[in-house]
Amino acid sequence: MSTTTPARTRVFSGMRPTGELHIGHLFGALGNWVRLQDQAECIYSVVDLHALTTGYEDVGGIRRNGQLMVADWLAVGIDPERCILFRQSDISEHSELAAMLGMITPLSWLERVPTYKGQLQELGESIDTFGFLGYPLLQTADIILYKATEVPVGQDQLPHLELAREIVRRFNNFYGEVFPEPQARLADVPLILGVDNRKMSKSYGNAITLGSSDDEIDRMVGSMITDPQRVRKSDPGRPEVCNVWAYHNLFGTPAPELDVIYAGCTSAELGCVQDKRALAATIKDVIRPIRERRAAFLEDPDRIEDILADGARRAKAIAGPVLAEAKAAMGL
Ligand code: TRP
Repeated sequence: MSTTTPARTRVFSGMRPTGELHIGHLFGALGNWVRLQDQAECIYSVVDLHALTTGYEDVGGIRRNGQLMVADWLAVGIDPERCILFRQSDISEHSELAAMLGMITPLSWLERVPTYKGQLQELGESIDTFGFLGYPLLQTADIILYKATEVPVGQDQLPHLELAREIVRRFNNFYGEVFPEPQARLADVPLILGVDNRKMSKSYGNAITLGSSDDEIDRMVGSMITDPQRVRKSDPGRPEVCNVWAYHNLFGTPAPELDVIYAGCTSAELGCVQDKRALAATIKDVIRPIRERRAAFLEDPDRIEDILADGARRAKAIAGPVLAEAKAAMGL
């Protein structure tokens, strides 16, 4: 076994610093990140180089957005004592390893990543860059630079992980067994829609953010779409098709209350307005402590920078020797 092989299972994941996170992140990736802290050595990165694949003309917000994102991580319980939290661009090994992997990765492998052509069509010429094509290659470097084997991500990242495994196999075939093959670890969550029943997205403004005020939560929940067949209060509702019901379950409205709501809705005794009021109360109880912790961290950005600097130091201690091993294997 190589000296750079970790003794414990190592987890790596990253998020682009897009600013404030929302409940999709909380119940998706972040919930998984928090749980994994107890089971493995976790490394979580603010992937700021990846943020440059879109919006590279306007770079003024990247550092601040990274701080906002880390404040959210800390607020939901990511523990910088137990995990390594760092900015990708602080560790130059990521870019070096990506360049090395680029030498052995056939262009066709990158071109056939399903999100590539789709996003290119959607976002147009501005994204028709070498960096965007190489996005999954840098992502592969992120993961294998730490010899991480578990990667908690959403469903949308599966093609990237598949590609990462293929690149690892190719590298190991040519140069010897240096890198383990990483596995995706999917969060066990149902699809969470935005308050307008569309895909949850920051750009749609349909996501409850982790910094939402009580008023914003009231407003968001008030605008939620319920069973379209329930026109009048006297019509019985169908919780199965109602996003409010889905949110009750997601946010953990207690079971006895859920039973009352289910019975009230299906018998037309409970109106949607009242039901939403109950949901808003549950959501406020979940968001309030997160919002408060988040605000406290944001009042002290130096502390966030200290955490990231300490993380960079610890990340470097792993990445340096692994890159050296990869370079030696590649004859450099
Ligand atoms: N591509 C990931 C996303 O958009 C972010 C990411 C970059 C990542 N590098 C990574 C995720 C490494 C997991 C591991 O969500």
